[in-house]
Amino acid sequence: MEAIDETLLDAARRVRKNAHVPYSEFHVGAAILADDGKVYAGCNVENAAYPLGNCAEASAIAAMLAGGGRKINRILTLGPGTEPVTPCGGCRQRIREFAGPEVPIVSLGVDGGEVLYSTLGQLLPHSFGPEFLESRK
Ligand code: THU
Repeated sequence: MEAIDETLLDAARRVRKNAHVPYSEFHVGAAILADDGKVYAGCNVENAAYPLGNCAEASAIAAMLAGGGRKINRILTLGPGTEPVTPCGGCRQRIREFAGPEVPIVSLGVDGGEVLYSTLGQLLPHSFGPEFLESRK
């Protein structure tokens, strides 16, 4: 695994421990390498009113924007078990707001096993993004 993924994995592993998941007990951590060269991490935050819960990717994106990053250069998602935990459909679209199709998405489980190296374009083909609106203003 590349050095940069080790950095992202470390950040995801640490933040994952802070997930607020009393309902699913499914801890997820996400770490972003942003265009400012910094790493931003986030965990999932559930709510007693279930639909109000946030995914780890949404938290990481919020941390990126709050910290001054504007674009996602690379993102890693880490969940429980040995299967890669990939971003949910909604989070693929959230990532799309700040990333193009070539952006790498690395997904894995905390207990080892397969590491899935994909791109946003593979996980969300033929996607709708911000430039569609820009060209039609
Ligand atoms: N979850 C994430 O944080 N990211 C994903 O992309 C998949 C799902 C969270 C949401 C919920 O807190 C828990 O995992 C179970 O779905």
